Amino acid sequence: MRVRLPPSAPLLNNINMKEKINEVKVKINEEIEILADLIEDLIVGKEKNEEKILNLISLQNIIRGINEILLRIKNKGALLQEIINLLITQPHIIGSFIGILEDGEIKIYSNFKNNELNNEFSIDTDSEFFEPFYSGEIKRINSYKNKIVNAISLPISDEKERVGVLGLFSDKQDFFDDEELNYLTDVTSDILVGLRTINYEKRIRDSLLNLARGITKIVELKDPGSKNHGEVVAKLSYEIGKRLGFDEEKLEMLYIAALIHDIGKISIALEILNKPFKLRDVEYEWVKQHTYYGYEYLRDINFPLPIAEIILQHHERIDGSGYPRKLKGNEIMIEAKIIAVCEVFHAMISHKPYRPPHSIEETLDYIRTNRGVLFDEFVVDKFFEVINEGFLNRC
Ligand SMILES: [Fe+2]
Repeated sequence: MRVRLPPSAPLLNNINMKEKINEVKVKINEEIEILADLIEDLIVGKEKNEEKILNLISLQNIIRGINEILLRIKNKGALLQEIINLLITQPHIIGSFIGILEDGEIKIYSNFKNNELNNEFSIDTDSEFFEPFYSGEIKRINSYKNKIVNAISLPISDEKERVGVLGLFSDKQDFFDDEELNYLTDVTSDILVGLRTINYEKRIRDSLLNLARGITKIVELKDPGSKNHGEVVAKLSYEIGKRLGFDEEKLEMLYIAALIHDIGKISIALEILNKPFKLRDVEYEWVKQHTYYGYEYLRDINFPLPIAEIILQHHERIDGSGYPRKLKGNEIMIEAKIIAVCEVFHAMISHKPYRPPHSIEETLDYIRTNRGVLFDEFVVDKFFEVINEGFLNRC
């Protein structure tokens, strides 16, 4: 008997079907993979965008901070160092430097987040970081050593002059793209404006100082017993002010006040200032008027310190025995108390038309004896510190 086998076609169809299913499965898997990649790209892209926005906001805040520094700091070195310190607070900026041309040499200010880099990394003016100083072009440097993967140097310049370089180091690849670069260019412009303002203010201050020196010379020509008086009193006062914690601006003004403290003598008769004998009472009363004259000459000038008032008070004594207003203790400005001690010291050791100079020992004894009587005790203590550190040898 013949057994009839079932037709093979359905079997074949089943195989085809499985293959097709497999094909579809593969396709679906491929689609899923593409979709997963797409979703991943979207998520990563979103994160990247968020990070980017945060970086730019942070840079914006840094520029605001730099503007605040420019208004607050008037010292070139302190200004540049604070800008560097602020720049390295930016995420992914791990170090920064500013190289600036000062008196024909490039001075470098730098800082790194990592102390190891601070100790190990030295920025050489011959290195590629300084190329922008010569070329005026921005220089990007990738894959630098240590933890630095990305660096950039920008010229600090405009069409008039090139004064230095700003360098930044990042631990992130391609950190400094066009948007960051725009902000960094703003930073270099701010630095240039800040440096120009400081230089301008320094020129004004130097001119004021030279003008004060000119006035002192006029007074000293009229009063031969006061040769170098203004300059010595100014230097000594400056040293005492420094030890009393005065800031740089206050010290500069104290120096100028001390230089011209006797400006009022311009109005005192030559015969009285040069009289080789002890003055009569009426003549002495006239000499005492030099504090008022000095005040009148300067009262309308708006110095950062009230120099006219300091000059008016420089013959007051803390026990009230001075002139012109017989002020006592804390009624007298600290600057006037400083000038008082320094002025007496230099006047006593100087030759006067009416007497020979006192010895230094005798003069120091006089000041020591009158500590807390005529002269402020803290000022006298600082005065002796300055003298004991060899001030007279440096004069
Ligand atoms: Fe005086």
